[in-house]
Amino acid sequence: MTPQSVIRLKRDGGELPEAAIKEFVSGAVDGSWSRGQIGAMLMALFQKGLSLEETRVLLEQMLHSGEVLDMEGIDTPVADKHSTGGVGDKISLVLAPLAAACGLAVPMLSGRGLGHTGGTLDKLESIPGFKVFLNSRELRKQVETIGCVIAGQTESIVPADKILYAMRDETSTVEHPSLVAASILSKKLAEGLDALLLDVKFGRGAFFEKFEDAEFLAQLMVDLGKAAGCRVGAWLTCMDAPLGRAVGNAVEVEECISIMKGEGPDQLADFICELVAGMLFLAGKDSSLESALEHARARLADGSALDRFRSMVAMQGGDVAIIESPEKLPQARVIHEVLYEESKPAWVRDVDARKVAEIVLETGAGRRNADDDIQHGSGISGLVCIGERIEPGDLLARIHAENSEQLEAWSTQLASAVSFSDEPVEPASLIIKQIM
Ligand code: URA
Repeated sequence: MTPQSVIRLKRDGGELPEAAIKEFVSGAVDGSWSRGQIGAMLMALFQKGLSLEETRVLLEQMLHSGEVLDMEGIDTPVADKHSTGGVGDKISLVLAPLAAACGLAVPMLSGRGLGHTGGTLDKLESIPGFKVFLNSRELRKQVETIGCVIAGQTESIVPADKILYAMRDETSTVEHPSLVAASILSKKLAEGLDALLLDVKFGRGAFFEKFEDAEFLAQLMVDLGKAAGCRVGAWLTCMDAPLGRAVGNAVEVEECISIMKGEGPDQLADFICELVAGMLFLAGKDSSLESALEHARARLADGSALDRFRSMVAMQGGDVAIIESPEKLPQARVIHEVLYEESKPAWVRDVDARKVAEIVLETGAGRRNADDDIQHGSGISGLVCIGERIEPGDLLARIHAENSEQLEAWSTQLASAVSFSDEPVEPASLIIKQIM
């Protein structure tokens, strides 16, 4: 089929045969389709939609457009988690070592932050010396040796997604669930996984704000993943408030170390254990979610996750001294405390993730465009969490920045992101639905 005939078929609402989707993906990768043709095809897919079978074939073609990591012969189940992105989402930094300490092999390939959501690679790069780009042989060796790695995509993994994602961005065709599902799953299945847990977020700080949209995507990815032979589950989790007290890069690494030392925040520590439990259960390592949760909590409490994290930092060339001395992480020039200025005590009712993320972006800790530089020491720490009781004069948060010009405006913005109640507030569970 010619590119024109494939585009016409979808433009007119037809079902694409496997050969047409193959032609599209290979044409995008080998350059035989022009940019105009790729853009037109993406718009036709976006407008007319894809059936489950078309999406399955698109995923398969994207997955096999490049290398699939060879995890054959590793004698523990190979599993990973993917999050659709959030504010203060530092979970992978604790989850990968914790899952490895529980007996899983975790070859986690991750990305950089863009817009209001942070990226795991940016956080890890705030550790002096930490190498985020490894080749396939190094990735496998590290998984065999210590059970986990967190690194960037190699050039040879899912080249189709690099091209299609950039074109989707240029043509406003990113937010279609079938395109999102094929993009996310192609990259995750290229890790050679037995099991995958998806943390699909909804709410103010999430990619999809509405629960129904996130739920649709989650179910689609579970169905597609299973059809591809991977045990996939999805937790639908609320992303209205930031995860934990820190949002940025170095400040989030410091918070992860605190969690692995057993110093909290407890709600976030427990959420991470629940996600690891999901992975252990899906991978067949534990026979129920309850026993898997006990398993994960025990390995976090006995320091095993911290030991794995130390090994991971060392194997990837990072300075392990940051674990005992977090002040060796990049520090911002200015640290400003924002205080609770009301006259009576209260409980924290809500923290608006989107407003917090906007301040963090402005401090330079995030990027608006893919090629922006970031300030690793900037961001927010010590942020209050929902349910905490707070007295007049207590800390609401610290703002870490390179200069003090906007501190006053940011402090006002930050105070407006937090709301209070005269009555005690019970923080709600973040996991709203589990699909397996
Ligand atoms: N993240 C991805 O990796 N792909 C998408 O399409 C959207 C979010």
